[in-house]
Amino acid sequence: MERPSIRSYSIRGTRITEAQRAAKRALQEIHGIPVANNKLDLRAIFPAAEKIIMEIGFGMGEATAIIAQQSPHNGYIAVDLHPPGIGKLLSRIEDGGIKNLKVIEEDVHVVLRYMIHDASLDGVHLYFPDPWPKVKHHKRRIVNSGFLDLVATKLKPGGYIHCATDWVPYAISMEEVFSQSEKFSGGVIDKPDWRPVTRFEGQGLDKDHRVTDLLYFRKQ
Ligand SMILES: C[S@@+](CC[C@H](N)C(=O)[O-])C[C@H]1O[C@@H](n2cnc3c(N)ncnc32)[C@H](O)[C@@H]1O
Repeated sequence: MERPSIRSYSIRGTRITEAQRAAKRALQEIHGIPVANNKLDLRAIFPAAEKIIMEIGFGMGEATAIIAQQSPHNGYIAVDLHPPGIGKLLSRIEDGGIKNLKVIEEDVHVVLRYMIHDASLDGVHLYFPDPWPKVKHHKRRIVNSGFLDLVATKLKPGGYIHCATDWVPYAISMEEVFSQSEKFSGGVIDKPDWRPVTRFEGQGLDKDHRVTDLLYFRKQ
């Protein structure tokens, strides 16, 4: 399975605590989905789910766990490759008795391309993706035309992608990239009450960053 040549994530800051390592060891088998070159049967994983939603880049997973608990009728697949966060979210699932949330440790480009059937997701959450503020790093920003094509293929017609960022230039760039795609319609929205403040967002708010939420729908 081929990973993208340009990484949208940083491999720094991956120091893992003993508790997070232990959680990964004990719980990944229970609450994780192994990476494989096989499309997942999402209905078998979440037989009663009304909607199946993927969160991309959940970080330490605090908002992810709250959203899954708030909406037990939906099934959630959380994708990241930051080992401490994987361990932390696995612990949250176990401690909270959360039944509708599974974790995949891999680059989301690989997960979407090789593990997700076309037109099978009802929604995608992308909260506070790495902003890559330096111009020379803009190519690392996950929201680009290739990513939107991939997401559009995996969303059901009418399915949504909800993004949030605390970096205004990235919000403007996201709007531009979406507006250039024929596959999406939508735009900036007020922050929905149900979206918890994430850890990364809290750090941005402490620095007086302005947060932008964007909601787009896969055209029919
Ligand atoms: C800035 S953090 C935000 C985390 C969290 N959403 C929050 O708001 O606190 C971005 C996260 O996206 C993850 N990430 C970046 N590129 C990714 C990719 N290609 N596949 C999966 N996760 C990715 C990083 O590992 C990191 O945990």
